[in-house]
Amino acid sequence: MTAPILELDDLSVDYGRVRVLDRLSLTIRPGEVVGVVGESGSGKTTLAKAVLRAVEVAAGSRLVVDGRDVTRLRGRGLRAWRRGGAVQYVFQDPLRSLDPGIRVADSIVEGLRIAGVPAADAARRRSAALEAVGLDEELIARLPAGLSGGQRQRAAIARALVVEPRLLLLDEPVSALDAASRDRVVQALIALRDARGADLAMLVISHDIGSLAAMSDRLIVLDHGRIVEDGPTRRVISRPEHPYTGLLIDSVPLIHAPRANRPSPVPVRS
Ligand SMILES: Nc1ncnc2c1ncn2[C@@H]1O[C@H](COP(=O)(O)OP(=O)(O)OP(=O)(O)O)[C@@H](O)[C@H]1O
Ligand SMILES: [Mg+2]
Repeated sequence: MTAPILELDDLSVDYGRVRVLDRLSLTIRPGEVVGVVGESGSGKTTLAKAVLRAVEVAAGSRLVVDGRDVTRLRGRGLRAWRRGGAVQYVFQDPLRSLDPGIRVADSIVEGLRIAGVPAADAARRRSAALEAVGLDEELIARLPAGLSGGQRQRAAIARALVVEPRLLLLDEPVSALDAASRDRVVQALIALRDARGADLAMLVISHDIGSLAAMSDRLIVLDHGRIVEDGPTRRVISRPEHPYTGLLIDSVPLIHAPRANRPSPVPVRS
């Protein structure tokens, strides 16, 4: 067994006196793509923020990223770990990742520039990231407003990829998009998964079980801050073990068939 890229043990998060995540345990292996579903308010975004150590975790929690226990990192140590870039987060709204006043080309390499990466090297990494998300080089001379929603989201993903993370957290990457743009982004994520293999794991939060069925190896279901289901995507969709999961699946039309196995992704209708 390879060492996990992410290990959560008894992870809890409290907002004031309200427990929002309740003793979650979750292991993600290198290259695994894990979908997270759950009703609004079930704690999905809080889970992503906890993995980034952007919210305080409660006593008794343990959070290990790529072999490093980051549960108690604070201040300078926490900032240094974040700069290391092992974990990257892509917001639901790509306009939060892309500065509206800056050309997309510059936004994508901003993190590299700050880290002192030479311009030629940064440009090379940007080209690779653009190719990985299927975005035309010519588009990035524009400001974000000149791109479609799906193109912006793919630019935001490219921005996360240039720092070469081992784990990408995507918070509702397609929910703000129309159907055609959504399919382009799903296709880009499937291509990325297949190209990077064990080098890149993803935690993909979505209301859209259809999109997750097309791209994730595993599905976890959150309900009121607890994991009520965790299993292979096909099994969870075809034979949910928790009654709540059955309800969630029934309430969402399945657009994409679950893929049979990793090397042969199911084409997404466009
Ligand atoms: N900063 C905060 N302070 C207090 N409570 C918060 C804060 N952020 C989130 N919450 C509460 O924590 C719970 C989980 O929120 P979270 O944003 O993680 O849910 P979610 O599953 O991402 O929902 P959605 O699908 O609507 O994005 C909700 O009850 C929410 O109201
Ligand atoms: Mg959320």
